[in-house]
Amino acid sequence: MPTNQELIAIAKRVQLGNYQPAPLVITRASGCRVYDVEGRSYLDLCAGIAVISVGHSHPEVAKAISEQAVRLTHVSNLYYNDRAIELGAELQRRTGFDRFFFCNSGAEANEALIKLSRRYHYERGDEKRTGIVSALGSFHGRTIGALSLTGEPKYQKGMAPLMGGVKYVEFNRHKAIEKAVDEKTAAVILEPIQGEGGIVVASDDYLRKVRELCDSAGALLLFDEVQTGYGRTGRFLAREHSGVMPDACSLAKGIACGFPLGAIAVTEKLAGALPPGSHAATFGGNALACAAALAVLKVFDREALVENAESVGAYLGKRLEAIATSAPEAVLEARGKGLLRGIKLHSGLNPAGVLEKIRNRGVLLSLAGGDVLRFSPPLCISAEEVDEGVEVVELVLRGVK
Ligand SMILES: Cc1ncc(COP(=O)(O)O)c(C=O)c1O
Repeated sequence: MPTNQELIAIAKRVQLGNYQPAPLVITRASGCRVYDVEGRSYLDLCAGIAVISVGHSHPEVAKAISEQAVRLTHVSNLYYNDRAIELGAELQRRTGFDRFFFCNSGAEANEALIKLSRRYHYERGDEKRTGIVSALGSFHGRTIGALSLTGEPKYQKGMAPLMGGVKYVEFNRHKAIEKAVDEKTAAVILEPIQGEGGIVVASDDYLRKVRELCDSAGALLLFDEVQTGYGRTGRFLAREHSGVMPDACSLAKGIACGFPLGAIAVTEKLAGALPPGSHAATFGGNALACAAALAVLKVFDREALVENAESVGAYLGKRLEAIATSAPEAVLEARGKGLLRGIKLHSGLNPAGVLEKIRNRGVLLSLAGGDVLRFSPPLCISAEEVDEGVEVVELVLRGVK
């Protein structure tokens, strides 16, 4: 077997260089553990950045993928496939949304939301209503449309010209959004919790206010639930915490536990907003991806993973708050919901260095917003595994100044 360093030397010659991975080559994983090529084991509190919903290499998902692979993988959208129909029906039952379009990623789902919003108003004769209001600190993906919605200049550097018509407002501030939404606004897009932005939770009151504003201005309300959806926050969708129903939302990440799949979910009002021919995705909703997603939902039910995300997530939250108290020189605050949580580090610290120290002790985390340690473990994580991870994080944070 080659070593991590040998494989990384090849990676540096063959890969484009747009990533800066940690020096680990992961070759297998199970549940909440991943293993590098040299056999070292890590507790995975990153979970592919909130993707590994039911745990790594879940046998039921693996079985569904392999059985589907020998039955039917793809037929295009020129025909129906049974798996996509079943998945739509399952999501209808679980989300409160009525109709679904499947694609391959979060960015692609947000592209579909942009097109859907503009086309919806166009179909109603309101062609000038093309503006989109988005939040500063948001993250919606890397394609040009999704990047244009992303209210964080560092991701947009050198990529101009971006899509026009986007206004950015301060997140979670009533006054800022009140000023931005008008008769030209096609849609407002928000993450109920800003994930990449540093686990910043929108208040229920704010989300209700934005719903009211959109209703009175005739604009659509869109939630990006790519990171917050699929049980991550202890509800199937994060929107349920506030009770606010957007007109549409985007989903991806945990939907098929690592098999590429994205979706938009819309209410009946938007059913005809993208007429035949106006939007498509070759691979979107293929039978193989949908079979993986159906298996994920079965595991959600049998293992009560949304409930686990709520209860173990609350426990994780308490333990992180305790770290904020025990290591005040390192931690500013603990925040988040369910199993999407963060601890914000003091500005004097080197967040990448902290992450590395934690990794060297066998625990994987990711950074969000530059200085927030993000916890987004598999939804099947146990309280004992939380203890194991948190003890390492606490040890490291108490040692840094
Ligand atoms: C809220 C949110 N939207 C969109 C995306 C983009 O998803 P993808 O990388 O699948 O295109 C991400 C990815 O981190 C995300 O967190």
